[in-house]
Amino acid sequence: MIEKAEYDFLSALVLQRSGLSLGAGKDYLLEARLIPVAQSWGLSGIDDLVRDLKKGNERMASAVTEAMTTNETLFFRDKTPFEEMIKTLIPPILEARRHTQRLRVWCAAASTGQEPYSFLMMLKDSFPELDRWKIEFIATDISSQALARAQEGIYSQFEVQRGLPIQSLMKYFNQVPDGWQIQESFRKAVSYRKLNLLDHFGHLGKFDVILCRNVLIYFEPDNKQLILERMATMLSEDGFVMLGAAETVMGITNMFERRRECRSATYGLAGKVVHAGR
Ligand SMILES: C[S@@+](CC[C@H](N)C(=O)[O-])C[C@H]1O[C@@H](n2cnc3c(N)ncnc32)[C@H](O)[C@@H]1O
Repeated sequence: MIEKAEYDFLSALVLQRSGLSLGAGKDYLLEARLIPVAQSWGLSGIDDLVRDLKKGNERMASAVTEAMTTNETLFFRDKTPFEEMIKTLIPPILEARRHTQRLRVWCAAASTGQEPYSFLMMLKDSFPELDRWKIEFIATDISSQALARAQEGIYSQFEVQRGLPIQSLMKYFNQVPDGWQIQESFRKAVSYRKLNLLDHFGHLGKFDVILCRNVLIYFEPDNKQLILERMATMLSEDGFVMLGAAETVMGITNMFERRRECRSATYGLAGKVVHAGR
């Protein structure tokens, strides 16, 4: 059992470093995730881990934070948002950029890569002419381990069976000893970077599409608002933010309006008024 003082210390550390709010009663989760971290540092348990964290071990604090992230993801998660994007949101954006032939996309919680690769497969299948375009695709996450897997692009049999159509598997993946690896052209097309959404990210520039799915659900309302409002300042006028199926901006910020052509959680800028970031 974790002592209450240790629980409170660890959840405050994770909240402060990543925005992830553990809440109460997650003793089992903390133990399951942090005992392996303690062991990897040659420590016998969570009390030793807490003792060393209190001495200000930065790398250990980072490892603990990463271990507490939930990296659950799958290809074409929720399916409908991807279909709607293709049918209704992407065509006018491409039409508006037919002269510049440039598109900028940011996947803000990329986890192990299924989401950015789903988006790219979808673009390639639906708009073959984009092969001639310059598509800048940045994918970020707080977890270096997840990003390393994303960059490698190797998925187990179980992972490719979750959401990935068999035709896409056959077309875009090669079988390797550990499973299935997405083709190099996809891996090269995505620039993976470690980024904490609590930090400043305006330097990433303007985007036509921001995928920020199934990450803000773990955050406190103030941080949700901060992040969404920063993202609003980084959207092109006709761009959009796609949230997870169960997420919304309602009650958090009025800088976005729902894109009515979509049933899924997709938002553009409210009245095209972009306020200064916070
Ligand atoms: C549940 S996964 C969602 C992955 C993908 N977007 C999806 O919808 O399938 C949440 C991801 O958010 C990342 N994450 C958590 N806190 C973060 C933070 N403060 N900054 C950036 N990424 C964070 C986690 O590492 C994890 O990979």
